[in-house]
Parts: sequence; C-alpha cells; structure tokens
Amino acid sequence: MDKIRNVAVIVGSLRKDSINRKVANALSELAPAELKLSILEIGHLPIYNQDVDENPPAVWTEFRGHIRAADAVLFVTPEHNRSVPAALKNALDVGSRPYGKSAWSGKPGAVVSASPGAIGGFGANHHLRQSLVFLDVPAMAQPEAYIGGADKLFDGNGKLVNEGTRKFLQGFMQAYAAWVTVNAKS
Ligand SMILES: Cc1cc2nc3c(=O)[nH]c(=O)nc-3n(C[C@H](O)[C@H](O)[C@H](O)COP(=O)(O)O)c2cc1C
Repeated sequence: MDKIRNVAVIVGSLRKDSINRKVANALSELAPAELKLSILEIGHLPIYNQDVDENPPAVWTEFRGHIRAADAVLFVTPEHNRSVPAALKNALDVGSRPYGKSAWSGKPGAVVSASPGAIGGFGANHHLRQSLVFLDVPAMAQPEAYIGGADKLFDGNGKLVNEGTRKFLQGFMQAYAAWVTVNAKS
C-alpha cells in the first residue's frame, strides 16, 4: 500500500449540528486507506493579533504545530455572506504567522463547500482558494466540490444517505489522494 498521509481537516463551521462537519465525517469514511483524516478544531483560537506574536497564546502554537505535523490540509466549509466564516479566516491567519514562518506552506490542499442553498458555498470556496494561493497551499483544482442542498443529504444520525453524493465524494477523495501523493513534501 502507498505511504499513509495524515490530513488535517479544517471545518469552517463551529455549529454543533453543522452540515459541513457531517460532510467532513463522510469524507473521512470515504477516503482511500492511504489518507488518515483528523478534524483539527479552530473554535477555541483567539482572534489573531500581531501584537502578541512575541508571546503567542499556547493554543496558537499548538495549532501551528498540528498543521506543521500534517502531510496535507482539507477544508470543508460553509459560506457566510458569500465568503469564508470568520473562524476559518482566523485559523488561516493564526497558522500563517509569525511572518516568514507560515505553517501552511507547501501542504497539499483541497476545498469542499456545503450549503443548504443551491450554489453550494461557491463564494466561500473561491475566497478560500484566493488565500490558499498566497499561503502557498497547492489546492486541487478538479474535481471542484460545491455541495448544494446539503441539508437534505444526511439522516438524523448524521449519516450520508444520498447515493449520488456518496459516489461523488468518494471520487473526490480518490483524486485528492493522488494530489497529495504528487504534492506532498515527504
Ligand atoms: C452569518 C451567516 C451567513 C450566511 N451566509 C450564507 C451565504 O452567503 N451563502 C449560503 O449559501 N448560506 C449562507 N448561510 C447559511 C448557511 O449556509 C447555513 O447556516 C449552513 O447550515 C451553515 O453550515 P453548517 O451547517 O456547516 O454550519 C449563512 C449563515 C450564517 C449564520
């Protein structure tokens, strides 16, 4: 079997019953065996402030360490006002500093957005991609994943029950595994 790669999964929603967290859990189940996905929490990170770069909160340092230790990063996010949720933008900023020491650099990435709406979080997906270009995260271009009508895809236990979406997400994770293999640094 191919080398096992650890993937840090960042969920852009802090909501207990988040659809995007359910999508992230489904992606974890559907991923090929060489990808080991773990959700890296972001809700406890204080808002980034450059004033404390010299003496950062322990949770920032810990978060940066988890990103550094990961082979790859997978973002699963809702759209807030046609952009990324503030908590996700904060996590990007925290991970990117201090200047010159970004934890994100070179980690192969992918973006999935999900929304009850028809556009499937397209705006958030692409605003996030804009930041990833600057952060030097090579983000998989295809397949794109804008999951619309996402509130209808799961049962009461959070299990993915839509067969078409299951097949699509499985194909997405196979493509991502290939992307990680080609782009991983080690
Ligand atoms: C502040 C806020 C802004 C939102 N803006 C959008 C939006 O721009 N586009 C969209 O499709 N849904 C928007 N929504 C609805 C979210 O897609 C919906 O709440 C979704 O369930 C959030 O994902 P989650 O279930 O993973 O928390 C917004 C929700 C909130 C709370």
